[in-house]
Amino acid sequence: MTDGAKPAEPGSDRRGGRRRDDRRRSGIVRIAAVGDFHCGEEDAGRYREAFARANDEADVLLLAGDLTRRGTPAEFRVVAGELAEVRIPILAVLGNHDHESGEAEAGLAILRERGVHILDGEPFELDRRIGFAGVKGFIGGFGRWTLTSFGEHETKQIVAATLEEVSRLEFALRRLSTPQRVVLLHYAPICDTVIGEPEQIFPFLGNDRLVEPIDRFKAAAVFHGHAHHGTFRGRTPGGVPVFNVSHVLLKNEGVGEMYYLFDVPLENAGAPVEEPEAAAASA
Ligand SMILES: [Fe+2]
Ligand SMILES: [Fe+2]
Repeated sequence: MTDGAKPAEPGSDRRGGRRRDDRRRSGIVRIAAVGDFHCGEEDAGRYREAFARANDEADVLLLAGDLTRRGTPAEFRVVAGELAEVRIPILAVLGNHDHESGEAEAGLAILRERGVHILDGEPFELDRRIGFAGVKGFIGGFGRWTLTSFGEHETKQIVAATLEEVSRLEFALRRLSTPQRVVLLHYAPICDTVIGEPEQIFPFLGNDRLVEPIDRFKAAAVFHGHAHHGTFRGRTPGGVPVFNVSHVLLKNEGVGEMYYLFDVPLENAGAPVEEPEAAAASA
């Protein structure tokens, strides 16, 4: 089986990845994914060239939230500027930092004006073979220690907010008519990809209630951020590969300067996706 992600092949472009037409002919869609680059106003121009490389290296760019530091409109405008030269489809969810200033709606409008498709429960079909569903996700923890809806109203509100995210992800996955489905989140859906962070904060890094629809709809892969010092890859109980694509983590792991590249095979779409010996070429 293949992880979607395959080692770079000979005879390809300067970074070892095959050109888009070749990829499509051989039944592959290449995803570039990154989260948590946290643009501040002083970062204008910092990532522009790196993002522009995705035009040659990938078929679609996924942004896994925490695009900004404090979620101000000025910071969202910087993000839009960094993406100015990207011509492939850009799909995004927001992260907690993007909500900090209470101006997420203004931020979303800026991103949409740039042409970014916000996957906040609204699915996206790249073509008839592969589609994308995403939500921010939320906190609550993992396994038998998951926060439960018991006690104070405020506790129940947290659990309800998480369940609402799960429900919206399920609905978005159901709306996709494509055989291959990819999931984008900000918060982690499994514990394995937050390992490396202090154990005391695991409950604030994600919630494994998000796994149920991911496994039920047999997603090809999941990309998330938020746990900057977590673990790069893991798997759901159902075997779906999960990648923590926090920007700092990609750099520390040596799997991408700006984003991680992952190939989804379109032949045999819907079949389980496995991981190769080596990760795909990365920027
Ligand atoms: Fe972050
Ligand atoms: Fe975050």
